[in-house]
Amino acid sequence: MVGQRAALVTGAAGGIGRATAERLAASGWAVLAVDRDAGRLSWAEAAGIASAVADIASEDDNRRIFADAEARFGRLDGVVLNAAVTGGGPIEALPVAEFRRVLDINLIGTVLGIRAALPALRRAGGGAIAVTSSTMGLAGDSENWAYCAAKHGLIGMVRALSREIGWEGIRINALCPGPTRDTGMTAMISDLAPAHYDMMARAVPLQRWAEPDEMAAVLEFLVSPASSYVNGHALVADGGAMVGTGLVGPASGAAPVIPAAIEGHGQQ
Ligand SMILES: NC(=O)c1ccc[n+]([C@@H]2O[C@H](COP(=O)([O-])OP(=O)(O)OC[C@H]3O[C@@H](n4cnc5c(N)ncnc54)[C@H](O)[C@@H]3O)[C@@H](O)[C@H]2O)c1
Repeated sequence: MVGQRAALVTGAAGGIGRATAERLAASGWAVLAVDRDAGRLSWAEAAGIASAVADIASEDDNRRIFADAEARFGRLDGVVLNAAVTGGGPIEALPVAEFRRVLDINLIGTVLGIRAALPALRRAGGGAIAVTSSTMGLAGDSENWAYCAAKHGLIGMVRALSREIGWEGIRINALCPGPTRDTGMTAMISDLAPAHYDMMARAVPLQRWAEPDEMAAVLEFLVSPASSYVNGHALVADGGAMVGTGLVGPASGAAPVIPAAIEGHGQQ
């Protein structure tokens, strides 16, 4: 019989990471919830979930938290590397230092997490890693190139690593969330730009933002045996937002608006 599975989740102070830590714990996993924001992470202790404060951009911190998880639980089976920051700005205006900060946390920080996790996963006889990329890891948006570069990088890395470590029984996959409400990253949109918030919902065929727990459900799937033959995959959970071209019609199901001048011309 398999003993209690153990997982480490980064970016767990709120949003998708917290929902994932809560969901895994509810499913019976032992969980170490990690974030650099000690204040917002305090929910975990109150909920009886182990926690550790760490900066994922630090190699030492990564070594420390994975050693901590293995020492507490005696094993490590699942790793959710989810912490990230936003970082947008026009191509000539965004300071290079800010670009480096986004790469340091979102891309290199995730790599450091994988490197620190691997020995413990090997000792457990295998396991699964899920990293949180984004639909911005597959597409692009104006003035979001720094974040997009990091999130695209994660997917390339996941694809390459799936071929490098799969033979050891260690799977690695990426989640690409669409717009997810009630997170540190998106709260400012709903608070400061409600019209934009509504417009984003209308761009999604399902006509709404995702709940953090809908992303947590996919991350749980990716680190659990339920996805045992899924490896090197970028799983898009965006309510269908990315499957259209965006060139014709709203995503609301209403008939596309075709200007009278072109109607009937060139349509096969
Ligand atoms: N919310 C969305 O719409 C959305 C869409 C696509 C992708 N994502 C991705 O989902 C993931 C979770 O984000 P979220 O939306 O829940 O926002 P969030 O801001 O609530 O969560 C990110 C967490 O990462 C932590 N963090 C940032 N830098 C860190 C560091 N150096 N060390 C340790 N912790 C650090 C933050 O403190 C925060 O708690 C991110 O990877 C984000 O890029 C979110």
